[in-house]
Amino acid sequence: MIRAEGLRFRYDDQQDVWAVNGVTNAVKKGEFVAVLGANGCGKSTLAKHFNAILLPEAGTVTVEGIPTTDESRLYDIRQKVGMVFQNPDNQIVATVVEEDVAFALENLGVPPEEIRRRIDESMRMAGIWKHRDKGPHKLSGGQKQRVAIAGVIAMRPDCLVLDEATAMLDPVGREKVMSTIRHLNRDAGITVVAITHYMEEAAQADRVLVMSEGRIVLEGTPREVFAQADRLRELHLDVPQAVELRDALAAAGVPMPEGIIDEGECAKALYALLK
Ligand SMILES: Nc1ncnc2c1ncn2[C@@H]1O[C@H](COP(=O)(O)OP(=O)(O)OP(=O)(O)O)[C@@H](O)[C@H]1O
Ligand SMILES: [Mg+2]
Repeated sequence: MIRAEGLRFRYDDQQDVWAVNGVTNAVKKGEFVAVLGANGCGKSTLAKHFNAILLPEAGTVTVEGIPTTDESRLYDIRQKVGMVFQNPDNQIVATVVEEDVAFALENLGVPPEEIRRRIDESMRMAGIWKHRDKGPHKLSGGQKQRVAIAGVIAMRPDCLVLDEATAMLDPVGREKVMSTIRHLNRDAGITVVAITHYMEEAAQADRVLVMSEGRIVLEGTPREVFAQADRLRELHLDVPQAVELRDALAAAGVPMPEGIIDEGECAKALYALLK
């Protein structure tokens, strides 16, 4: 879906300070990839290369084989890779939910019947159908973020890139947005790249990339990555709470199995021991 080869980027070309400093990686079609890393390590800069908001200073980024530097294909790239950002209020433009979801399509001159069909479909997929007649300002943060997701989905992208899309939400909103993202990935086959500071969210991905100082320094399934708790702490990152609890119990002599990464698995292992 997306391939970066030797990608390097700096914001100031007078200085030898690289926000992304040699990234080679590929996101496969249908995959759910989480990107972790401490503040300022280059996650957002990398994500902005995935739909040509930023262009490489060195190396290449291709979207379904199209180099992001190919200006004549910019529309195709932006249609294939949709971005969702942190603050829902900055992404909402209309005064009624369904008008907001339709906004980009209207600007592209999509015929009205087609707009109707697509916004109905995307509002259902994002779980905001029942709010379609409301004013976005009356919705919770999580609901607003799902309106933003619906607006992006209405473009029928192949890939959704979310840059800390749950960071400003309460736990309920966060879970609703995450379940929407999982649904879009599993049931609609949309490729997902999710930047997050929440380890519990990364635990749900197929693959986790960990960045530090503009590079990918750790990569694998959530199980593989979260097994390296000491390395993660060195990178100023946590492990999911379930991993922390499992490790603490194991250190105290409780025979907890290895490889636990989520609450369900942790609860099951504890239940088996208590029984
Ligand atoms: N618009 C900009 N102009 C100049 N420098 C920038 C700009 N945006 C980011 N940087 C710098 O580039 C580096 C990488 O920033 P980036 O925003 O990609 O990191 P991040 O991993 O997304 O961080 P965070 O977790 O805080 O969102 C940082 O040193 C940052 O200060
Ligand atoms: Mg960022």
